[in-house]
Amino acid sequence: MMLSLNNIESAYGPIKAIRGVSLTVQQGEISTVLGSNGAGKTTILKTISGIIDPRKGSVVFKGLDITAQDPALIVQQGLSHVPEGREVFALLSVRDNLLMGAYTRNDRDGVARDLETVFGYFPILRERSHQDAGLLSGGQQQMLAISRALMARPDLILLDEPSLGQTHP
Ligand SMILES: Nc1ncnc2c1ncn2[C@@H]1O[C@H](COP(=O)(O)OP(=O)(O)OP(=O)(O)O)[C@@H](O)[C@H]1O
Ligand SMILES: [Mg+2]
Repeated sequence: MMLSLNNIESAYGPIKAIRGVSLTVQQGEISTVLGSNGAGKTTILKTISGIIDPRKGSVVFKGLDITAQDPALIVQQGLSHVPEGREVFALLSVRDNLLMGAYTRNDRDGVARDLETVFGYFPILRERSHQDAGLLSGGQQQMLAISRALMARPDLILLDEPSLGQTHP
């Protein structure tokens, strides 16, 4: 089992956003969470990656309980999150954004190889590698956000609204 959520409940102050959420993801599997605006999809992903600590329930990743752990530790264990609205570092270069995705790694040769790999997936990022990320189009920023997540060499990647091309409000 790659990931399991067991009866998760998360809230923002007094506002209960999700409750009774359970799901499992096996290795090699692609799972999708569907729901209307405000249903709690983003909250589920933030709870998995440790940005929000749940009130109840547990998150188990590769057999280890990661509930409410420090998000940086969760990334280090192989779980990357591409946030809703991308949240690239607008004033950093495209290349530096990608290197930020690898900041928990210390295998410099591996990082350099993975940089080539993501440039292979998205050649526009190589062309723009020295430009500020904020100058990319919305869809190009999404390519960057996905590539930044891949630079951590994750075992599991969480994508929040990956097809959204326009600038997020
Ligand atoms: N920072 C916040 N503070 C207070 N309430 C919040 C916050 N973020 C989300 N909520 C509330 O939590 C609930 C779930 O929101 P969430 O963002 O998880 O939904 P979503 O399914 O991702 O929606 P969308 O499809 O619009 O992205 C909503 O009622 C929302 O208003
Ligand atoms: Mg959302």
